[in-house]
Amino acid sequence: MLEKKSVVIAGGGSTYTAGIVMMLINNQDKFPLKSLKFYDNDFERQKVVADACEIIIRERAPEIEFVATTDPEVAFKDVDFVMAHIRQGGLKMREMDEKIPMKYDVVGQETCGPGGIAYGMRSITGVVELIDYMEEYSPNAWMLNYSNPASIVAEATRVMRPNAKIINICDMPVAIKQGMADIVGLKSGNDIVDRYYGLNHYGWWTEILDKDGNDLMPKLKEHVKEYGYGPDTSGNDNPLLMEQSWMDTFTKAKDIYAVDPDTLPNTYLKYYLYPDYVVKHTDPNHTRANEVMENREKNVFTECRNITSKGTAEDTTLEAGEHAEFIVQLAGALSYNTHERMLLIVENNGAIANIENDAMVEVPCIVSKRGYEPLAMGKIPTFQKGMIEQQVSVEKLVVQAYMEKSYQKLWKALTLSATVPSAGVAKLILDDLQEANKEYWPELS
Ligand code: NAD
Ligand code: G6P
Ligand code: MN
Repeated sequence: MLEKKSVVIAGGGSTYTAGIVMMLINNQDKFPLKSLKFYDNDFERQKVVADACEIIIRERAPEIEFVATTDPEVAFKDVDFVMAHIRQGGLKMREMDEKIPMKYDVVGQETCGPGGIAYGMRSITGVVELIDYMEEYSPNAWMLNYSNPASIVAEATRVMRPNAKIINICDMPVAIKQGMADIVGLKSGNDIVDRYYGLNHYGWWTEILDKDGNDLMPKLKEHVKEYGYGPDTSGNDNPLLMEQSWMDTFTKAKDIYAVDPDTLPNTYLKYYLYPDYVVKHTDPNHTRANEVMENREKNVFTECRNITSKGTAEDTTLEAGEHAEFIVQLAGALSYNTHERMLLIVENNGAIANIENDAMVEVPCIVSKRGYEPLAMGKIPTFQKGMIEQQVSVEKLVVQAYMEKSYQKLWKALTLSATVPSAGVAKLILDDLQEANKEYWPELS
């Protein structure tokens, strides 16, 4: 019998919460729950998701105690895990992050370039607050953090809360690995054993094997060269690929791959290697934030309200996907010592041999009850080393700017981003972002 665990989901009103709840319920044999709590700083938003999830839990796993709250003490007391996915400023501020750089023909993206920097300056406050609640009310708990931009958040928590039990994670490699599995005819991304190095939303695979040790790289490269991670003509049921903008991103991997055919890339590298293409293919008046509000957010909230008004979730369309699977799998590995191999964002300490030790890197780790142990990825080539060092410096400058309340350092961060053409353009964007983020950023001088 596995010992039952208690979990709080911070950002209970997130569009991803219901999916995680479905996954938790489906995994009661592998990760049994004593209690599940939701925490959010927006009572009304969280209530919509919580009312529906309460019905789902009552119908499918009534033994789990459930509570939704905006009180940090109630939320964070006696938990084993904090699963965090907050969005400081909401999708409305994401829209600003995306649209302001576009005014200057610069990439406007949630986590990359100026938009990601602006979001980072907002997120640090919220995530550090969650860590402090966790340390006060459940000092032995782990925080598994999806809150973006994960690389800036990871650097901030490394510097500001060096002893915190936080693991920052990303579902992009997970989704790409599912795409790879589809391409080579395996059932799941979990059937793949990989070597990968980089930063969050900024990395490369050097090896892809199946569980028997067979090299899948040649077949994958052949496919990626033609179609990126998109499907060939036979179709593909990866849920991310349902949306055209994601399909474009998966397909664009073809051109990223062409730059370095020795590795397979993370899709996010398109923002750094093809920023001109991205700007050209973005509608400055209707960005991804608008699509998310019109699609995922609307769908999830409509379905939650349906469940609540019907009083049953019997025929719900809410589903658990890879995003939910990954965080639940990680909690299981930490709880029950499974020694699974997972890509996590951790302090380098030599995992990438020729990159500074205190960079927060994304590498495979072995996860057990004791935490995580990064695997050594060795020395990396000059091209990737140069790119990574540039981007690590951007992320470090953002965190320094936040801590020192320094306009100058934030200007340097924007200037150094490969998405920004000059210090002059960086300053124009920064001034607009600062104005839009008055409520959220520390006051800079
Ligand atoms: P969302 O806006 O729907 O949900 C975020 C929730 O957090 C909202 O209910 C909001 O009220 C709440 N919130 C905001 N600030 C808070 C704070 N300080 N304290 C408590 N609650 C707070 O956003 P979403 O689209 O569902 O995404 C949620 C987060 O997950 C985002 O940060 C997103 O970037 C991130 N995400 C990360 C990955 C990854 O790979 N790391 C993958 C998917 C989503
Ligand atoms: C992937 C990334 C996340 C990012 C998300 C954005 O899952 O790993 O870090 O937040 O995409 O997706 P969206 O559908 O909100 O544009
Ligand atoms: Mn991510």
